[in-house]
Amino acid sequence: MKFSEEYFDEGLYRVGTRCEKWDACRQEHGESILPLWVADMDFPSPPAVQNALLRRAAHPTYGYTAVEPDDAGALCGFWRRRHGLTIAAEDVMMIPCVVTGIRLAILTLTQPGDGVIIQSPVYGPFRFSVEATGRRLCDAPLTHHADGRYEMDLDAVEAHLRSGARLMVLCSPHNPVGRVWSREELCALLALLGRYGAKLVCDEIHADFVYAPKAFTPILTLQQEGVISLCAASKTFNLAGLQQASLLCMEEEVRAKISREMERSGVRSGNIFALEATRAAYEEGDAWLDGLLSYLDGSRRLLRELVAAHLPKAVLSPMEGTYLAWLDGRAYAPTTAELMTKAHKAGVTFTGGDFFGQGGDGFLRVNIGCPRRYVEEGILRLAVALES
Ligand SMILES: Cc1ncc(COP(=O)(O)O)c(C=O)c1O
Repeated sequence: MKFSEEYFDEGLYRVGTRCEKWDACRQEHGESILPLWVADMDFPSPPAVQNALLRRAAHPTYGYTAVEPDDAGALCGFWRRRHGLTIAAEDVMMIPCVVTGIRLAILTLTQPGDGVIIQSPVYGPFRFSVEATGRRLCDAPLTHHADGRYEMDLDAVEAHLRSGARLMVLCSPHNPVGRVWSREELCALLALLGRYGAKLVCDEIHADFVYAPKAFTPILTLQQEGVISLCAASKTFNLAGLQQASLLCMEEEVRAKISREMERSGVRSGNIFALEATRAAYEEGDAWLDGLLSYLDGSRRLLRELVAAHLPKAVLSPMEGTYLAWLDGRAYAPTTAELMTKAHKAGVTFTGGDFFGQGGDGFLRVNIGCPRRYVEEGILRLAVALES
């Protein structure tokens, strides 16, 4: 099968499939709403994934399931091929989802009351995980430039380290601001954390969505000690409903501590369909993924043209990675609440910038993981809402 522009243009109809993006949204905002919000895509997963699921479903018993060495092996092969990371199967732990991994890492690597650094605006559950585990939230907001570009504020990170923060949770590539951190930026951050003996959890769930000339640098190719990477096939191959992710850690004692924490909190992994689908995606999904990346690259260019033409006062952050665009709408309305109310009246929804914490109000996150006709329609509807 050819994973061409036409294949991705076609997309698929998701209404009536327990789909959070479409069904939950239509219940709240009515049937004509166009949902450009939660981070999954309106494309079919690779045929190899569907075939693996159908094959397993055809065997009519679904009992307790063994995780096999080849499950981790498939992940290791994929990361070596696509990102140049060499990791052994024993360094891979299976977890139900990346957010579980963030919580486990916080619980394992810090004590109640310890400071945990995040860089807002960032994926909301970073903040929620620090708060829910009784740790001290240390926000070192990203520096925002007038052209929409963001950078790390290492002085702000250092101020928290000086006041005793023990751990940082980094989003790489960054949701929602679209940065793909360079090797130099990551090395500078690691050196700083190292000076204070702080550890790093790096959420790399968006690793596969990077557009040339930018290149993704896996954190574990730079440093193994004191570093945990979290990854999944769920964003890349649209499998989020299956609940499967991985925690990569090259330190045996840390893995043992995390295992104990998993036991203590009753976290188990081994969903039979998730394991089958994930292995198929990692082993047989490359051609589909290459087609997807080329399609999304075209979509992000289209989005830039649409915003320039129809929302000239909005600022779109340079989208180096992810399929989530970050739009500064403050020239039209000062708060996300106002932007969203207007957008809903015009029949389109996004993820409100306030979900991402400090620095997010007045912004919208636009999901372009869909056929281009939706991107076009969504921006036109938003323009009607904001320009009238
Ligand atoms: C940066 C980031 N981490 C984690 C997740 C959620 O992953 P999971 O469903 O595996 O918890 C998302 C979903 O959008 C995300 O953007």
